[in-house]
Amino acid sequence: MTISFADKTVLVTGANRGIGQALVEEALRRGAKRVYAATRQPFSHPDPRVTPLTLDVTNPAQIKAAATQVDELDVLINNAGVAGYDDLSDRAALEQHLAVNLFGPYDVTQAFLPVLLRSQGAIVNNVSLMAFAPLPLTPSYAISKAAAFNMSQSLRALLAGRGVTVHAVLTGPTDTDMTRGFEIPKATPQSVARAVLDAVDNGEEDIFPDPTSQAMADEWHNGAAKAMERQNAAFVPPHPPAA
Ligand SMILES: NC(=O)c1ccc[n+]([C@@H]2O[C@H](COP(=O)([O-])OP(=O)(O)OC[C@H]3O[C@@H](n4cnc5c(N)ncnc54)[C@H](OP(=O)(O)O)[C@@H]3O)[C@@H](O)[C@H]2O)c1
Repeated sequence: MTISFADKTVLVTGANRGIGQALVEEALRRGAKRVYAATRQPFSHPDPRVTPLTLDVTNPAQIKAAATQVDELDVLINNAGVAGYDDLSDRAALEQHLAVNLFGPYDVTQAFLPVLLRSQGAIVNNVSLMAFAPLPLTPSYAISKAAAFNMSQSLRALLAGRGVTVHAVLTGPTDTDMTRGFEIPKATPQSVARAVLDAVDNGEEDIFPDPTSQAMADEWHNGAAKAMERQNAAFVPPHPPAA
């Protein structure tokens, strides 16, 4: 039985549908003490352990207000994201994807870092397999996810000595609104949510939560790029102990 989400406090962004909604349900199923469901629109949930938070991840005032409402947090799940078609001819499309998928998790993470340091908690970034290989129909999305993955790798190294773990989810095609109309094999959001929480439980830093991404897991874990990430992490100076 999985027990490590029992009595934990979890925050999920983009909690109202898709993978975010499944992550909320899975955390509750595992006995989480409190789940902060961060959404752009008003949100309610029948389980009294769910606390809604208004949070557009591109809105600095909302991020600040949300952070003041959370005084204890074990796991921050940066899940909110957007994906649109483009062909890289429109700079605004790239900026919009970076605003939500890169600067969103960046700003939310910085805002919640003090409580995560206190709990010696975990940050989970729902990235995408497109961090490794873009689908050229959605290049701005892929660029934003590659950047978010790289950010996760650096944050992981920078926070390791301070007791906060950083997990990147290299999610493959999942059956949500985001992939509607795209006729390829897809995992269910529920199975992805289970695999993500299992992997966080197991301390896996790069998470491959579905059959498509799983096919790349061994090669990634044992490859030259992962070895270089570890080598480079060794350059981070040790964090001085708290006075
Ligand atoms: N589905 C896939 O195949 C797949 C594959 C790889 C990675 N992912 C990643 O998984 C995450 C969840 O995707 P999904 O498939 O569940 O997509 P989804 O069903 O389209 O849900 C996206 C969620 O993100 C929220 N969101 C969008 N912009 C936001 C903003 N500015 N501030 C706060 N919330 C915002 C949406 O809220 P609203 O309802 O208010 O729009 C919604 O809750 C995303 O980061 C996505 O990139 C998905």
